[in-house]
Amino acid sequence: MIFYFSATGNSAWVAHRLASLTDDTAYDIITLHTLPNLQTAKQIGFVFPVYAWGAPEIMATFAKKLPKGNTFAFGVCTCGEDAGLTMKQFAKLYPLDSSYSLIMPNNYIIGSDTDSKEVISSKLTLARKELAQIAQEIQQQKRTYRVHEGSLAGIKSHLANFGFNRFARSTKPFFVTEACNGCGLCEKNCPASAISMKKGNPLWNLQCYQCMGCINQCPQQAIQYGKSTIGRHRYTIQPYLPKEEQF
Ligand SMILES: Cc1cc2nc3c(=O)[nH]c(=O)nc-3n(C[C@H](O)[C@H](O)[C@H](O)COP(=O)(O)O)c2cc1C
Ligand code: SF4
Ligand code: SF4
Repeated sequence: MIFYFSATGNSAWVAHRLASLTDDTAYDIITLHTLPNLQTAKQIGFVFPVYAWGAPEIMATFAKKLPKGNTFAFGVCTCGEDAGLTMKQFAKLYPLDSSYSLIMPNNYIIGSDTDSKEVISSKLTLARKELAQIAQEIQQQKRTYRVHEGSLAGIKSHLANFGFNRFARSTKPFFVTEACNGCGLCEKNCPASAISMKKGNPLWNLQCYQCMGCINQCPQQAIQYGKSTIGRHRYTIQPYLPKEEQF
């Protein structure tokens, strides 16, 4: 059983590929209303994006509540560059036998523009190879820690992560341009239920996960976050996947 959280598809793709390569099932924790029977699990997996060198709050909460057992457990975090101490911290919430990070296209367009199309494609090609290896190790129930922590991992995962969760998750800078056609997709897809449509326009509650789902997925590219996202590209994984890898 592989549990995942994903805003722009990277972690969903990883979870579905791992499930297919290890003959298992991937579950999106957002749409999962009742837990599958954990007693029947041959393995427990967690796949999620790195947010400011830590796990997303929603995945941390899920893992903390999940009943613990003796089943082999692994975690894979996806990140644009480096993961810091994400997996070591996560393993305190749910003990892991093996941990991995996977470099994937960047979706944090508040911080910088998306990767170029060439970089996106080459990251996905590398990730495909790495996933085949990870799947093999998982099937062998190999205990390992292969995480690209990057520099200053402790400072990033403690101080910077604290700052992100405390101050950076404000929705105040979100606004829509006249390109918004009121389709309601952002409201429907927000994992934090932080968006509600009022008179055909989305309005944001005070705080959210800052998953970047709404801003990257809007079909009209009508959502901006202050001035920082103006003129930047948008990213979701789907256009880069061949038919057989769509989920
Ligand atoms: C709020 C936020 C913070 C992020 N922080 C990091 C980070 O600390 N290190 C990193 O390498 N990538 C970071 N990223 C990039 C994502 O981890 C990466 O693009 C991930 O694969 C997106 O996964 P998803 O498509 O499943 O949502 C961040 C993205 C977001 C939205
Ligand atoms: S997804 Fe985009 S176009 Fe649709 S309601 Fe939201 S902001 Fe408007
Ligand atoms: S408001 Fe947007 S960025 Fe925030 S949690 Fe919802 S979809 Fe993600």
